Amino acid sequence: MAMEWSERYVLGVARMDETHREFIDFCNELTAIEPGDASFLERLDAFIEHTAAHFDQENRWMEAVNFPSCHREEHDRVLAVAHEVRQRVEKGDLFLGRRLFEELPAWFNSHVNTMDTMLALHLKESGFDFENSHPPQNGN
Ligand SMILES: [Fe+2]
Ligand SMILES: [Fe+2]
Repeated sequence: MAMEWSERYVLGVARMDETHREFIDFCNELTAIEPGDASFLERLDAFIEHTAAHFDQENRWMEAVNFPSCHREEHDRVLAVAHEVRQRVEKGDLFLGRRLFEELPAWFNSHVNTMDTMLALHLKESGFDFENSHPPQNGN
């Protein structure tokens, strides 16, 4: 079933919200392609590249502010699964390619509503400088 962008995904950090919309677009695109189709692997690679950049951005922000509930490991776990599935699809295990995009919507829903929500709140409350990826400067 197609994922839909919803107000409950809005975290109020423009770059996160935009990236999360793109994540949903990728999931819908990949769900619509048969894993046996020639374009599936190519689009899966594009999805993995986008997701690696998405997670990397959040990881850098979490580290810049010493975020106490850093969820880098969760990002790493999901990326490792995506890479593993990619290798298996390439070897002809198309079932796993389909399963990945059946499972990701529920993961995304809970990730955005818990871990990413806490991160966005922390960044906004701390006055994080998103333009320069900087914690607030104390003006001294
Ligand atoms: Fe995220
Ligand atoms: Fe995240």
